[in-house]
Amino acid sequence: MSEHINEHFNTRIVLASRPHGEPTPENFRLERAPAPTPHAGQVLLRTRFLSLDPYMRGRMSDAKSYAPPVEIDEVMVGRTVSEVVESLHPGLAPGDLVTADAGWQTYALAEGATLTRKLNLPDLAGASPSTALGVYGMPGFTAYAGLHEIGKPKAGETLVVAAAAGPVGATVGQIAKLRGARVVGIAGGAAKRDYLRDELGFDVALDHRDPEFAAQLQAACPDGIDVYFENVGGPVFDAVLPLLNDFARVPVCGLIAHYSDTDLPLGQDRMSLLTQLILKRRLTVRGFIQRDFIALYPQFLREMGAWLRDGVIKYREDVVEGLENAPQGLIGLLKGENFGKRVVRVS
Ligand SMILES: NC(=O)c1ccc[n+]([C@@H]2O[C@H](COP(=O)([O-])OP(=O)(O)OC[C@H]3O[C@@H](n4cnc5c(N)ncnc54)[C@H](OP(=O)(O)O)[C@@H]3O)[C@@H](O)[C@H]2O)c1
Repeated sequence: MSEHINEHFNTRIVLASRPHGEPTPENFRLERAPAPTPHAGQVLLRTRFLSLDPYMRGRMSDAKSYAPPVEIDEVMVGRTVSEVVESLHPGLAPGDLVTADAGWQTYALAEGATLTRKLNLPDLAGASPSTALGVYGMPGFTAYAGLHEIGKPKAGETLVVAAAAGPVGATVGQIAKLRGARVVGIAGGAAKRDYLRDELGFDVALDHRDPEFAAQLQAACPDGIDVYFENVGGPVFDAVLPLLNDFARVPVCGLIAHYSDTDLPLGQDRMSLLTQLILKRRLTVRGFIQRDFIALYPQFLREMGAWLRDGVIKYREDVVEGLENAPQGLIGLLKGENFGKRVVRVS
């Protein structure tokens, strides 16, 4: 418990308008207001790190989805690492670090009972608390759960993953290597491609922007593809589809190439090609949202914690300085400007 300190001003970024196509800075507005006052059971949080994630593009639209949209003039949603600055909850004290859904703002109220992940620095194995937003948080769990429940890579199989320098893809590839699979990673540009091969130890790394990409993928998968962890869609999926083996598994995790689509793509309708291949090759194509598998979370924390402590799983962070730069940070993320897990250092 501590006294309420109302000298703080909350800086927050709200959704000013809905994007048509790719988001622009005009879709966001920065505002200032007094920090809120906690009531019994609540805590006042100061944001240390804000996670920027591809799903935020979806929340800016009002199309029906698995989660409700952000309303106009509402604070943008987002997961944070936050510090308790004032507590009216017996289990939390000023100075505690927690993960929270505080959104794009410097201060937020939370019900203490909902803050179930306290970040004890020894548990983070010397890593920055921001890893609780990346490899040791939701994106890392997405990789872990999607492979555990759907992808199920086996020794000797070939797994392909794109957006492979990001927190989901990099973790997918490394876990698949631990399971004995041969891993082909796909990313944009030479620097990311070199990182996948030289730092993460992927067997082959390809640049999806290379004009010869489809031929390179075919050459990289002489025995076909057993697991395609789908993060992107678009031309990458077109190149993968003919290479899928009988009984291949396709965890459909994300389709970032399509998040800003305003219409269906022009061209021939190839839906029947897809459904025929699903039948003839007995493919498993399953969409998932990581929280569908939340029962695995304690197991993930244990196993990933050990991997991080032992340096078995590597990760990279891409830090944007200052909340005011979050809009440009998200706009850039959707175009592949990030190299590793993108977080905003807020305070
Ligand atoms: N289902 C779930 O519960 C769940 C949870 C978390 C994330 N996801 C999804 O998982 C995917 C990866 O998320 P993340 O947080 O790890 O993101 P990330 O890799 O940090 O960022 C997205 C990356 O996507 C790549 N990209 C963007 N447009 C592309 C395109 N047209 N074709 C190919 N690649 C493109 C870019 O990398 P390059 O430079 O390599 O092109 C960009 O850096 C996203 O689709 C996300 O929505 C799903």
